[in-house]
Amino acid sequence: MIIIETTDELIKARDTLEGSVGFVPTMGALHEGHLSLIHQAKAHNERVIVSIFINPTQFLEGEDLDKYPKKIEADKEICKRAGVDILFMPTASIMYEPDELVIMAPAIMGYILEGNRRPGHFDGMLQVVMKLLNLTNPTNAYFGKKDAQQLALITQMARTYHLRTHIVPCDIVRSPQGLALSSRNLYLSPEEKQKALALSRSLKRATKMVMNHEMDALIIKNAMEEILESQTEIEYIAIVNRDFHPLGRVEVGNTIILVAAWVGATRLIDNLWI
Ligand code: PAF
Repeated sequence: MIIIETTDELIKARDTLEGSVGFVPTMGALHEGHLSLIHQAKAHNERVIVSIFINPTQFLEGEDLDKYPKKIEADKEICKRAGVDILFMPTASIMYEPDELVIMAPAIMGYILEGNRRPGHFDGMLQVVMKLLNLTNPTNAYFGKKDAQQLALITQMARTYHLRTHIVPCDIVRSPQGLALSSRNLYLSPEEKQKALALSRSLKRATKMVMNHEMDALIIKNAMEEILESQTEIEYIAIVNRDFHPLGRVEVGNTIILVAAWVGATRLIDNLWI
């Protein structure tokens, strides 16, 4: 595995790679969720590039940019063992120039749900993903369904800008207890981890209801709220179609149920694709 820190070197190294290239962009503090993306990239491509970059432009004022978990040495080891060919680890000054051209998230999709709670977050996320896709020019790029809105926006960006990369959605990886894996889970105390299970429990309840033919979005949301409210501070529960339009009734094959909630000082998200 080679570790690269500059964009010029990355472009040169990328150009020497023959055959299909899978790319996994991350912000580090790698866990089993990231590893499953890397394994998928490895299984379906001849070469694999991973990036680790805590992108400052997607953090809002007062968010956790400064304390975002860093595990540089462990991350390098994980990538090496997983058979990654190139690990790209740039700094912010390498990735950004002052007063640069920006990409903006679309007015509706970029500003509902996560975008409503974190206005501007998706602009910064899209900006860096566009840079990373251009630098790595991958055949396939792998993104987790846990960040469902992020995934939808990146898919839209690839369409809008006619990118050649195939955006591959990957299933959520959970702890044995059901907690969706996230680098931010490192902030949770053991008690908070227990409370955080309310998110996946509420989604399991929703699954059961749908399996029992309860399709009314309001009834499902109320049942989820009952599970969540004693353990977390709910930000939103939403039932939308795959284009993120709110649904009154669940449509099997075209629904995402999303939840965002605080457990102590940690904001968590989770979702279920039906
Ligand atoms: O999902 C993430 O870790 C980040 O949003 C991404 C896609 C690496 C862009 O910084």
